[in-house]
Amino acid sequence: MTLRIGDTAPDFEQDSNIGRIRFHDWLGAHWGVLFSHPADFTPVCTTELGYTAKLAAEFAKRGVKAIALSVDSVDSHTRWIPDIEETQGVKVDFPILADADRSVSTLYDMIHPNANATLTVRSVFIVDPQKKVRLTLTYPASTGRNFDEILRVIDSLQLTDRQSLATPVNWKPGDDAIIVPSLQDEALIAQKFPQGYRKVKPYLRYVKLSG
Ligand code: BEZ
Repeated sequence: MTLRIGDTAPDFEQDSNIGRIRFHDWLGAHWGVLFSHPADFTPVCTTELGYTAKLAAEFAKRGVKAIALSVDSVDSHTRWIPDIEETQGVKVDFPILADADRSVSTLYDMIHPNANATLTVRSVFIVDPQKKVRLTLTYPASTGRNFDEILRVIDSLQLTDRQSLATPVNWKPGDDAIIVPSLQDEALIAQKFPQGYRKVKPYLRYVKLSG
């Protein structure tokens, strides 16, 4: 099934290294980052899962829960985690789904047969507290993802959900944001953005954000 932005993230029940997980229940009111990796005991995946573990405090600050997935077994995950912890110098504090029956991989279209018939590619789904898919991303097996970018997208989504804003190219927290083009009422703009704004074009209006 191809999942698109705005779709409801399908619920599922699957085994993991911390036991059986019902996805929606496990998410609760949090944001979620569901990401697949091709296989346990592989170098790039080891660095990705280690880095994700290092971001635990950043995810927690934003109300986000991370969950990994591969088609390997619970036993494999359990044997691999100490390697991640040893080599990456961090405790793995998020679950890894053991999708041996490929039910979640199929539901989320994480196996791309022309890349590999049986292993998942590097998929990422950001899911919001309403269980809507807010970002999809797919990387090939040979390229480790940039998890700082995933955090950056979450920052942008959380900001733009709260205010009538969008974020420009390479935006990062603290940078100016953009007033959405649909907001044209000057009185409303003044109310929403008392700090004022900088108009470059009628459709390109920057605001400084405090804090
Ligand atoms: C890796 O994680 O290093 C990897 C996994 C599958 C294919 C290539 C690299």
